Amino acid sequence: MRSPATPAGTTFSSRTPSVARIYDHFLGGKDNFASDRDAAGRLTKVVPTITGTARANRAFVQRAVRHAAVAGITQFLDLGCGMPRRRNVHEIAAMTIPDARTVYVDNDPAVLMHARAILAADGTAAAVPGDIRTPDALFKDPVLLDWLDVSRPVVVLLAAVLHHVDDPAGVVTAVRERLAPGSWIVISHACRDAVSPAALDVVKTVYAETGTPITPRPFSEILALFDGLGVVDPGVVEVSQWRPGDGGAHHGTAQAVGGAGICPGGQS
Ligand SMILES: C[S@@+](CC[C@H](N)C(=O)[O-])C[C@H]1O[C@@H](n2cnc3c(N)ncnc32)[C@H](O)[C@@H]1O
Repeated sequence: MRSPATPAGTTFSSRTPSVARIYDHFLGGKDNFASDRDAAGRLTKVVPTITGTARANRAFVQRAVRHAAVAGITQFLDLGCGMPRRRNVHEIAAMTIPDARTVYVDNDPAVLMHARAILAADGTAAAVPGDIRTPDALFKDPVLLDWLDVSRPVVVLLAAVLHHVDDPAGVVTAVRERLAPGSWIVISHACRDAVSPAALDVVKTVYAETGTPITPRPFSEILALFDGLGVVDPGVVEVSQWRPGDGGAHHGTAQAVGGAGICPGGQS
C-alpha cells in the first residue's frame, strides 16, 4: 500500500472519542479506546440495535463491492473508509478481479496510520488523507490520480459518511461530475425515520463530542441523493435488504439505508 506521510484531519487523542473508532468497536474491532467504548455504550442505551445496524452496513459495503467487481469494474475509491478490517474493499474486489486497484480515503489520521500498518505489504491498494467536503483537492491528489484512471469507470463508496457532512447532495454531485459514465456510486446513510426524537438528541450529542457531528436524515432525502443515477436493483433499501442472498449479511434495522447508482452514459 502506498500512502503519503501527512494525514489530514484533527489531532489524535485517545481521550476524545472518534467516529472511526466508535464504528470499529461496533464491528467488534480492537482499534478503539475507553472513550470510544463509553460513547458506544451511551449510543447503545438509546438505540439498542445500533451494533446490528453498523454490522449490517459493513456487510452491505462488502456485497456492493462484490457486485460491482462481478459487473466488471476494476477500480475502487473508498471515501470515509474507516479502520481497516478483515475483508477490506481491496480484498473483496481481488476475489473477483485479482489486479483490481483500490484507493482508501479518510480524514482521520488514526485511520491512515492503521491503514499503513495493516496494509503495508499490499500492492493493490493506496491510502490517502482527504476530506469529502473538498472534492477539488481530493480529485487532484497525485497518489489517487496515479493509482486510479478516472477517465474509466470507478466504484466510489460513500458508506456511512455522508451523514457526517452538511451538504451530502453537494458531495455526491461533485463526485459524480468527476466520474466516467458507467461508474458506480454506492451510498449508505443513517436514517432518522425509525429513531425517536429523544434518542436522536442523544445520538447527536455523543457524535458532537467526536468533533464530527452526525445528521441522520429522512429516507426521502437519502433517496434524493440517487437522483440522476441509474439505481441498481433492488433500489435504495434498508442495508440488510440490499441483495442479501450472497451470504455475509447481518440483520439490520431501518436505521441505515443504502443503494448503488450508476452514472449514466455507460454500460451497467
Ligand atoms: C462510520 S465510518 C464508515 C466506514 C466505512 N465507510 C463503512 O461504511 O464501513 C465513517 C468514516 O468516515 C470518516 N469521515 C467522516 N467525515 C469525513 C469527511 N468529511 N471526509 C472523509 N472522511 C470522513 C470517519 O473518519 C470514519 O472513518
